[in-house]
Amino acid sequence: MSFDASQVYQPAEDTFLLIRAALAEVKPEDSVIEIGTGSGAVASAVQKAAPRTIGVDINPHAVAYAHAVNGVETVRSDLFSAVSGMFDLILFNAPYLPTLPEERIDDWLEYALDGGVSGRDVIERFLPQALSHLTDTGRILLLISSLTGLSETVSLCAACGADAAVCAEEEVEDGEMLYVLKIMRSLV
Ligand SMILES: C[S@@+](CC[C@H](N)C(=O)[O-])C[C@H]1O[C@@H](n2cnc3c(N)ncnc32)[C@H](O)[C@@H]1O
Repeated sequence: MSFDASQVYQPAEDTFLLIRAALAEVKPEDSVIEIGTGSGAVASAVQKAAPRTIGVDINPHAVAYAHAVNGVETVRSDLFSAVSGMFDLILFNAPYLPTLPEERIDDWLEYALDGGVSGRDVIERFLPQALSHLTDTGRILLLISSLTGLSETVSLCAACGADAAVCAEEEVEDGEMLYVLKIMRSLV
């Protein structure tokens, strides 16, 4: 399948933070899915530790690029709509930037960044779907920014019956923080 690499999100600080957090979390026997795999950099690093790793993206260029360039088994899907099965580890570097309708650009890269007006539109759809594909002891690693709203995102998890705690963080430019939230089903 052909692709246009200019339409694929290329690895940046958020990618590398998620890779570090995922490699600290993953176990060899885990069944792993990366939602929003983009270039496939995260899934490619993780599959060396856990061979049962797949990547999903809504962007057809990303699906083709991640497979051709990074050797990731990929599925084109809007979140979990074309995915079946349960996973021990679910990864997502979400489109997390608050974006006004007039700021939107009509291309595939828009999907990498645009989190809607709140920055949490895609995350709100992702959380219940991810929890329904998570094994009992499974973990979700979700990368967000301080611009997304940390406490608001933790509250969204609680509303879905899940506990969330920051397991990795890093300051990027202008005081913006990146966070990786480790999310698990609440015990009660
Ligand atoms: C911030 S980029 C992260 C890319 C890559 N995982 C990384 O860390 O470099 C977000 C990715 O999520 C994908 N995405 C956005 N909305 C999606 C959806 N509803 N379903 C699947 N993928 C989606 C985008 O196309 C983009 O590739």
